[in-house]
Amino acid sequence: MKRELALEFARVTEAAALAAHKWVGRGNKDAADQAAVDAMRKMLNEINIDGEIVIGEGEIDEAPMLYIGEKVGNKNYDRLVAVDIAVDPVEGTRMTAQGQANAIAVLAVANKGSFLKAPDMYMEKLVVGPDAKGLIDLEKSLLENIHIVAKAVKKELCDLTIVVLDKPRHKKIITELQALKIKVYALPDGDVAGSILTCIIDSDVDMLYGVGGAPEGVISAAVIKALGGDMQARLKLRNEVKGISLENDKISNFEKARCKEMGINVGDILRMDDMVKDDEVIFSATGITSGDLLEGVKRKGNIARTQTLLIRGKTKTIRYINAVHNLDYKSEEICDLVK
Ligand code: FBP
Repeated sequence: MKRELALEFARVTEAAALAAHKWVGRGNKDAADQAAVDAMRKMLNEINIDGEIVIGEGEIDEAPMLYIGEKVGNKNYDRLVAVDIAVDPVEGTRMTAQGQANAIAVLAVANKGSFLKAPDMYMEKLVVGPDAKGLIDLEKSLLENIHIVAKAVKKELCDLTIVVLDKPRHKKIITELQALKIKVYALPDGDVAGSILTCIIDSDVDMLYGVGGAPEGVISAAVIKALGGDMQARLKLRNEVKGISLENDKISNFEKARCKEMGINVGDILRMDDMVKDDEVIFSATGITSGDLLEGVKRKGNIARTQTLLIRGKTKTIRYINAVHNLDYKSEEICDLVK
């Protein structure tokens, strides 16, 4: 992929964040998501790519736009590069709707056939930074992995920081980690941002562990690969995670069938190359609300400021792009979404 494309993808997440920001604190998750989806789709269709959404807003029959399998890109251009695209137009819909920290608009792009087409189910995730690359193993217990990571990053357990989503299913793990004097950073939502924190120099985070969404898991794997970190994962049945009986369970049977179609079993260990084949991932995230990773959108009238994290896996260059947008000069469609 040509490096000039990277800036084009940054423009996509900028537009999504600007559109979602209009809905910050308004208690309407769906409106925020729809606005970001519309903005992302519009911008993706201006780029000279032959793109396919492989991680998106759901199946064609349940999501009107950016559904899995949707083709995007500027169809009037004949030298198109074929790419897979994984999107989460609002990673943190609840945080956006409630005006809370850490909501971001994200997208990862790689050469065709690179991303695992994970169904919308749960995934157990273990993520670490470059120092512990190649050392983690989900076959081992969490505690064994923690000791391995502590040794790799040269820290005592009491200096280790682990991100875990603050969900009822993780209550026991959080208590156990804290009993070991490990610092737990319990994020209410947003494990893509939590995963990235393991790999950037401005953060103390050494590991992310826990169960979150599988689509977010593939996006995390893409950015962690681009940053030189490591991740292992296992798909989990939704109802197992929620503690609902699996006997004659339609949702679980559907999830198992989808996994079979992909040639994997629920519970198989997924390593980095199983989730993301390509080393040339481009990843872009723009802050919607301010958080640990990025500043959120700031607005005064029709002037808006965004901050975007743009990463090129090929060179491992990380760029923070601060942009000031004059909304009076955006295209009409984008204006309708952001103003
Ligand atoms: P959405 O904003 O797309 O709902 O995702 C937020 C999130 O916290 C993800 O980061 C995480 O992977 C997933 O939801 C966890 O799912 P759940 O809220 O069902 O526990």
